[in-house]
Amino acid sequence: MKKLKHIFDSNKAWAQSIIENDPDFFSNLAKQQTPEYLWIGCSDSRVPANQIMNLPPGEVFVHRNIANVVVHTDMNLLSVMQYAVEVLKVKHIIVCGHYGCGGVKAAMDPDEHGLIDNWLRHIRDVGRFNALKLQDMDEDTMIDRMCELNVVEQVSNVCNTTIVQHAWKRGAELCVHGWIYNIENGILKDLDACVDSLQQLDDLNREKWGMLSTLNK
Ligand code: CO
Repeated sequence: MKKLKHIFDSNKAWAQSIIENDPDFFSNLAKQQTPEYLWIGCSDSRVPANQIMNLPPGEVFVHRNIANVVVHTDMNLLSVMQYAVEVLKVKHIIVCGHYGCGGVKAAMDPDEHGLIDNWLRHIRDVGRFNALKLQDMDEDTMIDRMCELNVVEQVSNVCNTTIVQHAWKRGAELCVHGWIYNIENGILKDLDACVDSLQQLDDLNREKWGMLSTLNK
């Protein structure tokens, strides 16, 4: 007996609707992928990369985890990023967070959540780095601000990977963006944390740390 039949039915209808518009869509896509974008986003079911950007299959290379965290030693994410930058030659890496992120909320509350608390430590670190900016805020405002600050921190982490550093040193066209998505109205916002060179990374570091940072290089 076939399991989850409604999904297979839905899949057939979807594939058929695409072929009706473009009979060669899947055969062309099967030959190669040439996405311009790498999306690093939250696993939240309400934040699907292609649908939010209204882009068809083939346009976005995607990595998602809880709270869109870029951990310096995450081999999974680093492998995705290396393939995207060095083989697919994407021109844009987008770190996209979202307001009301359950991962950020869980990181900020004092309760225990089990194994995931080890992952959420990275977000608590973002809170610690930005403690001054988060003072005197009500809880909802602070969570929203943390969702934004987390994106900016992860943009910086992307820029500091050997993969992006090497790409810029060899003169590749590569821009790292920080965006946030509003699940209440479906709208994306650019957090103006765009970095496309080592010089701009220095500027972002100065802004983040409020000093000429050599530690963060
Ligand atoms: Co989330």
